[in-house]
Amino acid sequence: MTIHIKIPNRTWDGALLDQIYHSIQSAPELGFVYKTSLSDLVKENENRPSLWSAFIDKKLVGTAVVGSRAANQHLWRHGDIAVFPEFRRRRYGTSLYFTQILQAILEGRRIIEDTVVPDLSPWMVGQGFLPAIGYTQFGVLPGRTRAFKDIELWGGDTHLLVDNFFDRLPDDLTIDIYDTPKVRDGFQKNVEIFDKYFPQLAAWFRSQRDEILTGDFYGVSLNVTVLDDSSQTRDAGGNWIKLSKGVRP
Ligand SMILES: CC(C)(COP(=O)(O)OP(=O)(O)OC[C@H]1O[C@@H](n2cnc3c(N)ncnc32)[C@H](O)[C@@H]1OP(=O)(O)O)[C@@H](O)C(=O)NCCC(=O)NCCS
Repeated sequence: MTIHIKIPNRTWDGALLDQIYHSIQSAPELGFVYKTSLSDLVKENENRPSLWSAFIDKKLVGTAVVGSRAANQHLWRHGDIAVFPEFRRRRYGTSLYFTQILQAILEGRRIIEDTVVPDLSPWMVGQGFLPAIGYTQFGVLPGRTRAFKDIELWGGDTHLLVDNFFDRLPDDLTIDIYDTPKVRDGFQKNVEIFDKYFPQLAAWFRSQRDEILTGDFYGVSLNVTVLDDSSQTRDAGGNWIKLSKGVRP
């Protein structure tokens, strides 16, 4: 049984894309999620990965999206995540978060953040999912949601969190990664700042990025697709076309 974390794109079969939307939309804890916001993320996957789905063989078991990259180049925010109930507690959620940590490294993002409404998803906090991977609580926004529920902010430093995952990842895991011009541009801007304020961190990010691009991240198997020029992903009409596989710059 192989677990494969994939990056959906618009060339995928429509029924499969619908299943991906369903995997997020059917988790009541997440509230209403617009299909268009998810399809925008699938579209954004051409420029840099923003939505991933986990598969066991051909069966879709869960999906995770990026929260926002916004103006804060140095932050990674996890977004919605859902694993179908019958596939929970098998570390697929952990694998999806690890995938996002890899993406954060590729983009040079040094802080990981996640927001949780504990009243809706109590398993994320306490002795649950986030503490299990070493995330700590940054703070509480009391009564912040429309229904007066608290929002908790959790996270940690990328370079410290990544090590927590290795013992917890399932066997036979393969993760798809794209390295695109936009990803590289973000990385460059971040490490230039680290060079100035925290050179050891810049060195760490450079070495870990290189490690990811080898396709084997300390024993975790990665399928790396490197795009040299974003224009290669679009045809003359601006539509998505096939990506070239495994081309190193
Ligand atoms: C959150 C979610 C994605 C986790 O997916 P998952 O694949 O079951 O998570 P994992 O198997 O990787 O869990 C890793 C660890 O997290 C903790 N954990 C996960 N679910 C838990 C639960 N229900 N209760 C307590 N701890 C839990 C455990 O420590 C677990 O490790 P263990 O199984 O060895 O004890 C899944 O529960 C889900 O889809 N929930 C509904 C949507 C949701 O709440 N999303 C988050 C909104 S902020």
